[in-house]
Amino acid sequence: MSVLGKNTEAGLKELLTANAEDHMRLNAASNYFEKIGDLETARELKDKANVELGHFNAIFATLVKYEGLKGLVNDMAKEETEQHVSEYTNVANAAKAEGHDDIEAMLCAFSEQEKGIAETLKRTRNAF
Ligand SMILES: [Fe+2]
Ligand SMILES: [Fe+2]
Repeated sequence: MSVLGKNTEAGLKELLTANAEDHMRLNAASNYFEKIGDLETARELKDKANVELGHFNAIFATLVKYEGLKGLVNDMAKEETEQHVSEYTNVANAAKAEGHDDIEAMLCAFSEQEKGIAETLKRTRNAF
């Protein structure tokens, strides 16, 4: 297995995240247009969301090819543990400080779920 260049690897990982975000945002927007009865816009946005998903899957496949599934799961476990859990806590604290108790409660619940995701990923990683 040949090795990815450093900048190529970092760039692909950034694009992977960007495509995931674009896919989900387009999908969510499409669902709202569907709800208000603008089916044409909903369909157009859904099509574009699927293009972004295609980009995501192709980049993911490239990373699996070069870094192996174990390497990727390892990255995911690390990210979910360190980044997400602390990010959720930070934003929850900011929301509380600014008087948004409902948002704080939502984010604390999400943070618990993030812990669960991290645990699953760690188990998956250790199964290799
Ligand atoms: Fe894209
Ligand atoms: Fe997460």
